Amino acid sequence: MNASTRTQVAIIGAGPSGLLLGALLADAGVDAVIIEQRSPDYVLGRIRAGVLERGTVELLERVGVADRLHREGLPHDGFDLCFGGARHRIDLKRLTAGKRVVVYGQTEVTRDLMNDRQAKGLPTFYEAQDVEIHDFDGDQPRVTFTQQGQAREVLCAFIAGCDGFHGVCRARVPAQALTLHERVYPFGWLGVLSRTPPVSEELIYSNHARGFALCSMRSHTLSRYYVQCTLQDKVENWSDEAFWNELRLRLDPEAADALVTGPSIEKSIAPLRSFVAEPMRFGSLFLAGDAAHIVPPTGAKGLNLAASDVHYLSTALIEFFQERSHAGIDHYSQRCLSRVWKASRFSWWFTSLMHRFPQAELSGGEIGYRLQQAELEYLVQSDAAMTVLAENYVGLPF
Ligand code: FAD
Ligand code: PHB
Repeated sequence: MNASTRTQVAIIGAGPSGLLLGALLADAGVDAVIIEQRSPDYVLGRIRAGVLERGTVELLERVGVADRLHREGLPHDGFDLCFGGARHRIDLKRLTAGKRVVVYGQTEVTRDLMNDRQAKGLPTFYEAQDVEIHDFDGDQPRVTFTQQGQAREVLCAFIAGCDGFHGVCRARVPAQALTLHERVYPFGWLGVLSRTPPVSEELIYSNHARGFALCSMRSHTLSRYYVQCTLQDKVENWSDEAFWNELRLRLDPEAADALVTGPSIEKSIAPLRSFVAEPMRFGSLFLAGDAAHIVPPTGAKGLNLAASDVHYLSTALIEFFQERSHAGIDHYSQRCLSRVWKASRFSWWFTSLMHRFPQAELSGGEIGYRLQQAELEYLVQSDAAMTVLAENYVGLPF
């Protein structure tokens, strides 16, 4: 490839949103180049989301990369809420007329999309340094970067900012053109991945006086667990033993007894944040996924929102290149944000219901905890309330 490349869409970032957008565009014959600042191994080393909505699975099916997902992914028809020392099942299938989710790691989604892209010979620049976007408010958008010491330039009609929360794209939009909405929660999640069988066949979300806990999985032999921690906590200060002890304390007696522990193969702390940047389009620049919004992981919505964004974006760009219609492009931001805000609301609500908040917070201390117990008791006794939870958890339509 020359130092100067021309394409229809320059995609910044090879996370799930950039790779899925690339696949959807390629499927429709729209040219795109992906520019990623990290190496493929680094991207694959990030352990993140684990739950896929039906809509996300359908997009992966549409681009022909769902074979392994169907073989190895674990369909889940429900999950457990744990509080007051007992578990209560949320029957997603019954409450949503047959809908379910699939447990399949973000790492695997990314790997499948990367392999497919490589097999098709679609262009991706990894380890791109000093990535800059130019003229996205003019008529000749451009991306510049260096790769292995060589300066490169990509000329394009549109730029897709799929470069995550810390990326360059949102940062280059003039501050006065953006409205940012943000809440940083007063706690984080300490996550552990271990080569042990999951404690239960379905996920367990636990509200406990000591703090939230989540039992999740990647397969029948690989478990993913989280405990709520403070913002001051450091991974180095959490031995595996301390983690397992804390997790056990936050589960019901049956799960605590059944928990199989082992050495952690990954351990990390993630802060929790709700964030929305509006609008999601500026001239020829479109933001998608974490570049535009962050949800706390409690509702398992981050990756699924990235997928719905790129569904709207690919539809809009394909419509433009095939029919010269601006309609999809003009409505992109509004279409995305309508779904983004609903998922943000759900993620905020589920986070507020399940975590222990510090005394000083409105929902904190003993009264906050007692109100949560009352809401949880009401929830598991009311089909109406459980249906609201289930409908949002399996994913709103797009
Ligand atoms: P990303 O996955 O962040 O991908 C962006 C890509 O852009 C990255 O590969 C990055 O290297 C690249 N990039 C960044 N800057 C540049 C640049 N200047 N130039 C070129 N490339 C660039 N969601 C859940 O549902 N459940 C979870 O448990 C969960 N845990 C998470 C834990 C952490 C620590 C984080 C950060 C997120 C978590 N999420 C979780 C959210 C979920 O992983 C994200 O919503 C999802 O990764 C969004 O995909 P994305 O492609 O938009 O962004
Ligand atoms: C995960 O498996 O990492 C996971 C599952 C459900 C969530 C968040 C994370 O809500």
